[in-house]
Amino acid sequence: MNAPFLTFEGIDGAGKSSRIAAASALFREAPLITREPGGTPLGEQLRELLLHQPMRPMTEALLMFAARREHLETVILPALAAGRPVLCDRFSDASFAYQHGGRELPAAALETLESLTHPDFSPSLTFLFDLNPAAAAARLNNMGGERDRFEREQGGFFPRVRAAYLARAEREPARIVVLDAARTPEEIDAEIAAQLRQRFPAWLKT
Ligand code: TYD
Repeated sequence: MNAPFLTFEGIDGAGKSSRIAAASALFREAPLITREPGGTPLGEQLRELLLHQPMRPMTEALLMFAARREHLETVILPALAAGRPVLCDRFSDASFAYQHGGRELPAAALETLESLTHPDFSPSLTFLFDLNPAAAAARLNNMGGERDRFEREQGGFFPRVRAAYLARAEREPARIVVLDAARTPEEIDAEIAAQLRQRFPAWLKT
């Protein structure tokens, strides 16, 4: 049985990153925890550029998928092949949500990049942390710190990103679990644990 590849998605400020650590504690053997853009030395350099360097939307999409291909070949696929579960903070759903939804690139362009980058491969399960953009913006404000190129977006950007995520979840309900991220961390962790127990019991602590 292949090790599960689990991804965590949502708009900036939805709170997914802190829940990944909680999910990892459920596994029998420590999963590999990684993120996109990033996860490799090249990917982390591309992340710096993607988060801070102004660029055109298609350039951004190409770099997201370039980082992803490197990450897949050198980190994700080898871990899965060795029987180690992988928990990944964002994956290709983020490109559809941000570069198609947010930046309004045609979905067909992202589909082409996706099929070049990972034909016949997709996450085993995806948790979509769904939160209204006003609540997410308030969380980002409370966290302080400097905002990156995405977090500085205003107006219709995050409503479009959210809508694109939800549209994807509607098309792939078996893979994408929508979590109401307005709840407490304990409630969200409990739902993630229940989903994992139902789908991947062999990989979890009893
Ligand atoms: P994230 O790691 O969630 O940021 P943070 O460290 O602030 O929690 O993601 C970085 C940003 O990259 C996020 O705003 C979404 C964006 N992104 C895309 O636009 N497309 C993509 O394909 C991916 C993976 C991320």
